Amino acid sequence: MGFLDIDNVTKSYGAVEVLHRVDIAVEEGEFLVLVGPSGCGKSTLLNMIAGLEDITTGEISIKGQVMNGVHPSKRNIAMVFQSYALYPNMTVGQNITFGLEMHGVAKPERDKAMADVAKLLQIEQLLDRKPGQLSGGQRQRVAMGRALVRDPDVFLFDEPLSNLDAKLRVDMRTEIKKLHQNLGTTIVYVTHDQIEAMTLSTRIAVMNGGYVQQLGTPKEIYDNPANVFVASFMGSPSMNLIPATIVERDGAANAEVSDASGDARHLKLSAGRLAGENGRQIILGVRPESITDAEGADRKSTNIQTITNIVGVTEPAGSDTFVTSQISGKECIARMRADAEVRPGATIDFAVNMDKALVFDPETGKRIG
Ligand SMILES: Nc1ncnc2c1ncn2[C@@H]1O[C@H](COP(=O)(O)OP(=O)(O)OP(=O)(O)O)[C@@H](O)[C@H]1O
Ligand SMILES: [Mg+2]
Repeated sequence: MGFLDIDNVTKSYGAVEVLHRVDIAVEEGEFLVLVGPSGCGKSTLLNMIAGLEDITTGEISIKGQVMNGVHPSKRNIAMVFQSYALYPNMTVGQNITFGLEMHGVAKPERDKAMADVAKLLQIEQLLDRKPGQLSGGQRQRVAMGRALVRDPDVFLFDEPLSNLDAKLRVDMRTEIKKLHQNLGTTIVYVTHDQIEAMTLSTRIAVMNGGYVQQLGTPKEIYDNPANVFVASFMGSPSMNLIPATIVERDGAANAEVSDASGDARHLKLSAGRLAGENGRQIILGVRPESITDAEGADRKSTNIQTITNIVGVTEPAGSDTFVTSQISGKECIARMRADAEVRPGATIDFAVNMDKALVFDPETGKRIG
């Protein structure tokens, strides 16, 4: 049993089930990120942990105590909402300390707590303003401050950074990570941003359509995605998903693909993968960083395969250059060194690191190699 236990939980609105049998045991001090596209059920699950939504079936417990039916105010959690939900008539300072006041914390202690979080969130100069006099980003920081002054068992965050500009977002991400490292409080954090999920979490639950598709550490999720959905959702640019056929040659399984001219090309799979599956249709998954120019290929790889192919477009991105090419009729993205000499329309050798290639079943989307 975890510190926060989500045990076989479903949620229905009327006849429609929007969350299906969710099972997650969160350990004390973990930073769990729920990530997935809009409408997949992230906020619903978080709201059930907070007690703002009823649990249709299953149980949620915190420190071994079943929370179904326990009022939100009795759960010792602190939540930052997707919409900030600040009290418009209170000042920033009052918004931050209101919860403490309700819990009977004395004024000197409240003032100290307020000063600490205001400093942390750089909103000291805003404490006497009303929420209506703040920018979106400032309001979001006040909403964070209101959660941070408490000392809860669990912090719940629902996309707390979604309205911030890119720079502040990255700064706040670092602040949240530091905060977790310093306080060690258990956090459940919702985002649709896979980079936020990768950088903040100790574990990620990737959700889609009300199902947890995979639960694992960021490395597990990235290196060993359970299915095509997880593989393509995590990582930017997305993993290349290339239709292919298994063809046995010289006792080894090859993924047969076609180049931009439609000619067959063979990419030998690494040791033993898909052996004895001659003729099977697959989807070959290759991340952009595993397709490079010949000189940029990973020296540690035991299996670099080359495709001679026509360059589509090149997109210099500072540290790297992204290069597209058609494989099996799909536009694939390669990540090359910034100084790789590649011109649109040229025919070059693309080096594919097959040690890192994954194989999926086209019917089920499940990983098979
Ligand atoms: N009160 C409600 N009545 C009926 N359906 C609802 C209700 N609230 C949410 N839903 C449905 O439940 C599903 C999950 O919604 P939820 O808000 O949890 O998604 P989300 O993952 O947080 O999405 P977003 O990233 O857009 O915030 C959606 O299909 C939504 O339409
Ligand atoms: Mg939501």
